Formats: sequence, structure tokens, C-alpha cells
Amino acid sequence: MRAIQCVRFGGPEVLRVVDAPEPVGDGLLVEVSAAGVNFADTSRIAGRYQPTPPLPFIPGTEVVGRTADGRRVLAHTFAGGGFAERAVVAAGAAATVPDEVTDTQALALLVQGLTAWHVLRSSARLAPGETVVVNAAAGGVGSLAVQLARSFGAGRVIAAASTPERRALALSLGADAAVDGAPDGYADRVRAANDGRPVNVVLESIGGRVFTDGLDVLAPFGRLVTFGNASREGRPALDPGELADRNRTVAGFWLRPALEVPGAYAEPLRELFTLTAAGALRPLVGAEYPLAEAARAFTDLIERRTTGKVVLRP
Ligand SMILES: NC(=O)c1ccc[n+]([C@@H]2O[C@H](COP(=O)([O-])OP(=O)(O)OC[C@H]3O[C@@H](n4cnc5c(N)ncnc54)[C@H](OP(=O)(O)O)[C@@H]3O)[C@@H](O)[C@H]2O)c1
Repeated sequence: MRAIQCVRFGGPEVLRVVDAPEPVGDGLLVEVSAAGVNFADTSRIAGRYQPTPPLPFIPGTEVVGRTADGRRVLAHTFAGGGFAERAVVAAGAAATVPDEVTDTQALALLVQGLTAWHVLRSSARLAPGETVVVNAAAGGVGSLAVQLARSFGAGRVIAAASTPERRALALSLGADAAVDGAPDGYADRVRAANDGRPVNVVLESIGGRVFTDGLDVLAPFGRLVTFGNASREGRPALDPGELADRNRTVAGFWLRPALEVPGAYAEPLRELFTLTAAGALRPLVGAEYPLAEAARAFTDLIERRTTGKVVLRP
């Protein structure tokens, strides 16, 4: 079968189209109709993701497709193997996709949708009326987090993104205000977008100075959820005493272990499917690429040219 293989660690140029052996193992065989690309995949092929997969490997941690009995399923494949014509998925990971939800919408709801859901509900514990800042608001997680924050009762949603087009997109998804997410002046722009007041929740996936400024704009009892480091600048060491002095909370989030918590996978996914089927959530499919053009998809994602979900079609 045709698949994409990472042959050494590096940038998108390390991805090759190969004729790979059929996948084997316990679980369900899925005829893949589409596979999702996530920002973490760019770290996996760079050898920066833990645990580091042994080379060579087939990347891809989420697929949608048909099982032998004709069921259309969405499933995670955290061990990799998604960027291929067929993949074996754990039976417990396979969720039946409702007819009203397309393949690509379903893919947007897995890693990115569940992350958006959990950072708002499980980590930030968003309360009605609170102000939420969403960084990278035009991206896969961000475009869903803007909409979910709204439907979970946020009082004000402030989107941060790098270009006027991306900010306009976030506003069209329901954000009340949109600011440039660049590090210089970030805190001032966020406060200005909230009439000079500090905010209750920051969904932080950029790292570096944006992390530090995000912490700075928190109101008393505010929560910053750190779940990414797209800038590669890392996250600074924190003094718990300083957090205590200003009644601020930093919560960490990682989807993979979160999904082992009872009730953390099938139930939120069902809610995301229901919202999407009802038209109350609009998963944004930014770009589809043929499987053979995986390297181009990765380049576009790294160079911040994509919005919403990035999808590969075998
Ligand atoms: N902890 C978890 O379990 C988990 C799960 C899923 C995703 N994540 C994290 O959540 C974030 C969003 O993931 P995603 O898959 O939805 O990706 P994405 O948001 O579609 O793409 C990443 C975005 O980050 C922004 N960005 C800021 N600085 C950047 C830089 N120096 N280089 C590249 N991009 C930069 C860009 O938006 P602008 O150009 O608008 O700034 C870019 O579009 C990522 O940091 C990812 O690692 C974490």
C-alpha cells in the first residue's frame, strides 16, 4: 500500500512516498479516506516529540475511513501509521461518524476538537460570562476553541492571530475582538481588547514571550492553560510564590494521557459530533492535499499559511 514514511529526522523534506507492507496488529483495519495533520506531527518528524518514534516510521495520528463491515469511523492512531491507504486502529478508539458530519469535519474534531474541548472544560473550567483569549485562533485548535468558548457561555472571546485575514476569520467564527498575536506588545493589545481590564482565561499554545505576557494579563483567579509551544521558544520556569501572590493558575494539558481518563474520549467526541451535526459548531477544513504531497502540507503548516484543519487524502 502507499504510505508516507519519515526516513530521518528533519523538516518536511524527510517525508517520502513509499510502498509499505500492509499494517498488522490487534484492532480494526480501516480503509483510510482521509488523515489529519497536526502541528505536533511537525515536531514528530523533527525528532522533537516524546516519545521519539524509531526510524523509519509512518506518521499520522488520526484517520477517518471504513472498516471491513462498512462502518465509517474516526479514530486516533497515536503510535503513528495514519498517513497510509490502510491503518489498524484500536477497537476502543474507533467512533462511528454520524451521517451529517463529513470525513474532514470529523478529522478536525479528533485531536484538535478534543483539545479545544478539554482546555476549556477540563483545564480552564470556564465559567459563564468569563473572558477567554484564544491564541493561534485561526488554526485547527484555535478555530474550534473560539466557537466552543462561545457556546460554553464565555462573556467575551478575544482571538490572537498573525495576519489581518486570520483575525477576520476568527471574528467570523464568533470572536468579539481580534488582536495581532506577535510577542511585541501582546499584553497591551489583549488588555486594550478587553477595555483595559485583565482576562479570566488564556488558551496558550505559542510559548516564549507570549506565555509570559499571557500570564501577565490574567485577572485574580485567572487560569492560563499551556498546551503548546509553536514558537519553539519553550516555557519559562515559574515561581509558585509569584502565582500565589496574584491568585493566578497555570494548568498544563496533553491530550494523549487525558484520553485515558474515564469519560474523556467518547463522551466529548459525541458532544462535538452533535454540535457539528446541528450546525452549532463549524469545523473549518483549511486545506486538503493528496497523500503524496504530505511534505507540501507540512511546509504550509510550519510557515503559518494554513487555517483550520489540514487533511491528507490517500
Ligand atoms: N497538548 C496537546 O495535547 C495538544 C493537542 C493539539 C494541539 N496542541 C498544540 O496546539 C497548537 C495548535 O495546534 P494545531 O494542530 O491546531 O496547529 P495550528 O494552530 O493549525 O497551527 C499552528 C499555529 O501556531 C501559530 N504560530 C505562532 N507562532 C508560530 C511559529 N513560530 N511557527 C509556526 N506557527 C506559529 C500560527 O498561527 P498564527 O500565524 O495565527 O500565529 C500557526 O497557524 C500547537 O502548538 C500544538 O502543538 C497541543
